[in-house]
Amino acid sequence: MSTVTLRIARYDPQKGDKKSHFETHTLSDVLPTDRVLDLLNRVKWEQDGSLVYRRSCAHGICGSDAMVINGKNRLACKILAKDLPATITVEPLKGLPVKRDLIVDMDPFFESYESVMPFQVTQHEPHGRERIQSHEDQQLIDDQAKCILCAICTTSCPSFWANDQFVGPAAIVQASRFLFDTRDEGNEERLKRLNEYTGVWRCRTIFNCVEACPQGIDITKHIGNVKKALLHGNTDFVRQS
Ligand code: SF4
Ligand code: F3S
Ligand code: FES
Repeated sequence: MSTVTLRIARYDPQKGDKKSHFETHTLSDVLPTDRVLDLLNRVKWEQDGSLVYRRSCAHGICGSDAMVINGKNRLACKILAKDLPATITVEPLKGLPVKRDLIVDMDPFFESYESVMPFQVTQHEPHGRERIQSHEDQQLIDDQAKCILCAICTTSCPSFWANDQFVGPAAIVQASRFLFDTRDEGNEERLKRLNEYTGVWRCRTIFNCVEACPQGIDITKHIGNVKKALLHGNTDFVRQS
């Protein structure tokens, strides 16, 4: 068991805060199994009930507790305190407006997500009762389907920080999930969106996104494939490669 100092960014406009400031909490008896989320819970439950942050599953599935931990975008429920220095700094994600403490406004993120039509578009009736897909075709979209929409990639991207109208890597991964789904028939419109000034071309291959993704998704490969689809005018090349 050890002692940890937690520096937490606090901001509450209802209390008249004009900008964020840090508050420090010391926690003793920290266990080797305690994650940063457990420490935040202890601060909230034992020291200051006014602290707010998002969390739900506590098991890396819902994507709600993304935050900046010691300068890196992480899920608080997946990072053990014992793997960090004895002083841990926790801040809200960058590039999205902070609403309070560690909570950012996710609306712009989900607007970009919606803009790439993250759903299957079909124009023909299925042959038989289902839209059958082969194992090989499913493999083209398995990686993208692991995305939990945590926003860690988009909010670690300097191109997004520079222009918050950039659709961002998370939305591109989601677009790719459907662009390369062989049952989908909505590519024309989806590619049109991604070819806009704020679309995929604003990616400057900086790679922060792929390094930060907690799901290990090969984001830059999918971004590259979306760029190729725009250059080829179709998605056939993925089945030939
Ligand atoms: Fe999160 Fe990875 Fe999905 Fe980006 S691609 S939203 S980092 S799970
Ligand atoms: Fe940004 Fe990732 Fe491209 S960090 S610039 S989306 S490679
Ligand atoms: Fe759900 Fe961390 S609380 S991913």
